[in-house]
Amino acid sequence: MDIEVLPARDTTRTLHDPLWWRSAVIYQVYVRSFADGDGDGTGDIAGVRARLPYLRALGVDAIWFNPWYVTPLADGGYDVEDYRRIDPRFGTLEEAELLIRDALAFGIRTLVDIVPNHLSAQHPWFQQALAAGPGSPERERFWFHPGKGEHGDEIPTHWTSSFQGSTWTRTTDADGTPGEWYLHLFTPEQPDLNWNHPDVRREHEDILRFWFDRGVAGVRIDSAALPVKDPTFPEVPDRPGPGGHPHLDRDGIHDIYRSWRAVADEYDGARVLVGEVWLDDAERFAQYLRPDEMHTAFNFDFMTQPWNAARMRGSIERTLAEHAPVGAPATWVLSNHDITRPVTRYGRADSGFAFDRKRFGTPTDLARGTSRARAAALLVAALPGSMYIYQGDELGLPEVELPREVIEDPMHFRSGGVDPGRDGCRVPLPWSGAESPYGFGTDGAHVPWLPQPSDWASLTVEAQERDPASMLALYRAAIALRRGSGDLATEALAWLDLGADVLAFRRGEHTASLTNFGPVPITLPAHRGVVLSSAPLEEGALPPDTTVWLDL
Ligand code: NOJ
Repeated sequence: MDIEVLPARDTTRTLHDPLWWRSAVIYQVYVRSFADGDGDGTGDIAGVRARLPYLRALGVDAIWFNPWYVTPLADGGYDVEDYRRIDPRFGTLEEAELLIRDALAFGIRTLVDIVPNHLSAQHPWFQQALAAGPGSPERERFWFHPGKGEHGDEIPTHWTSSFQGSTWTRTTDADGTPGEWYLHLFTPEQPDLNWNHPDVRREHEDILRFWFDRGVAGVRIDSAALPVKDPTFPEVPDRPGPGGHPHLDRDGIHDIYRSWRAVADEYDGARVLVGEVWLDDAERFAQYLRPDEMHTAFNFDFMTQPWNAARMRGSIERTLAEHAPVGAPATWVLSNHDITRPVTRYGRADSGFAFDRKRFGTPTDLARGTSRARAAALLVAALPGSMYIYQGDELGLPEVELPREVIEDPMHFRSGGVDPGRDGCRVPLPWSGAESPYGFGTDGAHVPWLPQPSDWASLTVEAQERDPASMLALYRAAIALRRGSGDLATEALAWLDLGADVLAFRRGEHTASLTNFGPVPITLPAHRGVVLSSAPLEEGALPPDTTVWLDL
């Protein structure tokens, strides 16, 4: 299918719109794997700056950077040692400032990642706490606790980590004897902060100001429902009621985000708070989006649904219904740096997503998965709200099954090697050429930090820019049409009933999106024209695993 040429971008309009975030297309940059500007095999800010024209051509409104701060990389940078410095592998603070400025010149805003639940164990605060010993004020910024039992050698609670295993590690006192334990909901290299401590609150508000002062347009808040703990440390009840879990979604969490919102609101233009809020309870989820808290939060309910019309429609209905009372726009996310890539996921018998179901060697039909991922991209681009694109999804990259010896993700190790972990979606991007490093680095550069598959030549940006039927061409067309369409800019959606296998809705006066989840082509309703489709129509009918946008 031919894709029309991109319309010129009206950057003045976009950059002065205080409501830009309500319908924005936000591109997630996992900097370590985006583009390598200095040839050391690791992606960096220089690489991103060099590729800004690519992001402009894609048509995105903003980029969200995964953590780029100084880090020992025990958890891909979610173990922050210094929030005010860039990790030397990724660049310098000056380069980050230039990136923010250059991106704005391209009409693209920058969001950074803030990780309030924990720090790196190498952070000076934690090192000071270890050195200062039990009972010291330095330890009060974290959760140090004596062990249970006569010798204190039993863990304080049996809370389990999202990375599996225990959430407590025992320290050693200065005299070499076993000491207190400290809490870490993730790895031992990521000690949890005590959010009852005024230093912790003050420090994070300062960090927000540090980055807002440098022109960032918002922050993505990591593990946003976890920071507040029950300081009495009870065990997790079998069925915790609302707010009754000792370390998830406690009522006190909202005070934190109200203060953060107040900080954001001190600045001109909308500085947005985007929460990573994993919660099953839709009502509790919506509380984070009240007008004086976060602007938006990731919609994981939709992202985890299997390829099924009823399940996806149910999630869209729930999402819109739960956001309406608080006046927040929905977000639509197909994946991120933690999630199995869509072309792989939708090509599997179990096409939904859950962290505990990832296994090596899962049979995958990539052709089918790719058709569905194309259809899903058009489906979400037609929904009201903002849309997130994880780098490489616009190229249709599959999840890579990496050899065990190169995996770095702690989720893999903490599962005893059963879970392949998340590195398979973090493989460096292919830009050009016929073999690895596919233009990821400069000429003669080191090999990329994770190996790229040998069959990615047809997935490079260069190859896809030449192919009007490529995934990249589809994403560019969808984003350009979405930007140009008055209908898609409205916030309302009306369902169309075209049978159980079809997810169809009208946006605005004339635009409709139809996705066929069933096994046979379906006849289209009366329409004036086809705006865009994720695969060619078959004699005017919509084939399986395809989305079409119609002008009604
Ligand atoms: C969520 C992040 O997306 C993930 O990558 C990280 O491992 C955990 N939070 C812990 O920070």
